[in-house]
Amino acid sequence: MKPTHCPPRHVDWASGTLRGEPLIRKTTRLGALAGVFADEHAWRQGDPELAVYTVEMFDSPSGEGELYTGVTHLNPGRVGDEFFMTRGHFHARREQGEVYFGLRGEGFLLLQDEQGQTRLEKVAAGSVHIIPGNTAHRLINTGTEILSALAVWPTTAGHDYASLAGGFAKRITTHNLQLMAKEVQNG
Ligand code: F6R
Ligand code: ZN
Repeated sequence: MKPTHCPPRHVDWASGTLRGEPLIRKTTRLGALAGVFADEHAWRQGDPELAVYTVEMFDSPSGEGELYTGVTHLNPGRVGDEFFMTRGHFHARREQGEVYFGLRGEGFLLLQDEQGQTRLEKVAAGSVHIIPGNTAHRLINTGTEILSALAVWPTTAGHDYASLAGGFAKRITTHNLQLMAKEVQNG
């Protein structure tokens, strides 16, 4: 007897494009990222309609034990001397972790614990990033191409952006074509 099966959802590993239903897509534009970049003047000079990143994800039932799968596509670009990045967040359910997989482009995953200790992991095609619970996370695109990363996380995790409204304790900038990591206080 032939095995019966449901057609699976699909990810194109090279581009991170997801195929399957139900698919949700949300684009975050420069104008929505108030307070995220250090150089407020440069941020105000930018086009508020400019797309900084798009998240595509398969919708899933909510509830304990369920998982979301999504891809973040982070465009290359800068605000002042700081690279484009996601807003970054703790999970509302702090204890819940997440796994990121680098698909294309190059950049960093910035991790920060509740004591404000940061660490950077290099993101590139094939990189695997296990984000423990109680750890805020942000993607930073330091390359010239789109940075795409696949993520899997509990549907119950939620987002807590407010706890980082003052900013992460580390910023990645470029000066004379050199990458710089800067420790900062209150973002
Ligand atoms: C979900 C997750 C990612 C991010 C996405 C956008 O827990 O970590 O799907 O939500 O990279 O970043 P934020 O949500 O910080 O704007
Ligand atoms: Zn997350």
